[in-house]
Amino acid sequence: MAKKTAIIKPPIILAGRESKTFARKLAGELGVQLGKVEIATFSDLETHVIVKEDLKDRDVYIVQATASPANENIMELLLLAAAAHTHRPKRITAVVPFFGYRRQEKVTTEGEVLSFQLIAKLMKSAGINRILTIDLHKHRSTKYFKEFNIVSKELRAFPILVEYLKKKKLDNFVVLAPDKGGIPESEKYARALGVPIVKFYKHRSIRKRDEVRIDRYEGEVKGKNIIIIDDEINTAGTLMGVVDVLKKEKARNIYFACTHGVLSGAAVQRLAKSPIRQVIITDTIYLAPEKRLKKMKVLSVVPLFAQQIAKWSK
Ligand code: R5P
Repeated sequence: MAKKTAIIKPPIILAGRESKTFARKLAGELGVQLGKVEIATFSDLETHVIVKEDLKDRDVYIVQATASPANENIMELLLLAAAAHTHRPKRITAVVPFFGYRRQEKVTTEGEVLSFQLIAKLMKSAGINRILTIDLHKHRSTKYFKEFNIVSKELRAFPILVEYLKKKKLDNFVVLAPDKGGIPESEKYARALGVPIVKFYKHRSIRKRDEVRIDRYEGEVKGKNIIIIDDEINTAGTLMGVVDVLKKEKARNIYFACTHGVLSGAAVQRLAKSPIRQVIITDTIYLAPEKRLKKMKVLSVVPLFAQQIAKWSK
């Protein structure tokens, strides 16, 4: 009897509307096809999804950053996964360059919900088997994926940002951690760049969540070039709080680097008016043209995602 030849189908990428640019770049890097999907929003704001590809036995990657509007983008990702699931694929991986609800990974008061865990559960229900993401707020958050038997890989933008910062060849500079939670990560940057670290301790107002007060700091900033490192910039409240102190303390040039440019509310206007020399972010979230400033530098983390997918596809 003639031996059967198995045809291995290549992976396929489906893009959510938030991450079309990211998905296109990713497909280009991997030399794979972008699958056909039809996504629409009804006038009552319901989302409607049709996956127009035969995905049977295929390794499917759905790319969608669940950035603002987080709830709509999450729902779109869930619907895309559930629609893909109807084609009986081999596996569905959600590629989530920005994971909405990443900061709600703990319960701090009675009556609060562990939102991150709920999102993981919803993803499992929608048929997602694997998650590829980058720089969650707390690295231990991946345990919530495990809880629902979702395999996950959390990448780090660290090598991309460090490589860029090294090329700047700045002298007399320090790395600054804007809050207690950011100290371990900033220490990694300071070690990689071979410079001292300055530690700031912040306090966020409960009533005005986009305002941050710096309680105290440790380290030397006077006359120094400063690189502030954070995981995201959202309202820029944290950054403005830090910059105010740095101005008073007569620091020299101020740079800021982070993975996720959330840039909600008045963030862009605040950055435009601030004395910050350069804002370095990555492309985990699509940066609309009206949000772009000359002082912004966007580095791509697509190669990191492509490398991981290539590794998984071997
Ligand atoms: C907080 O724990 C985070 O690491 C960031 O510092 C924070 O999310 C930045 O938000 P915002 O720009 O609104 O201050």
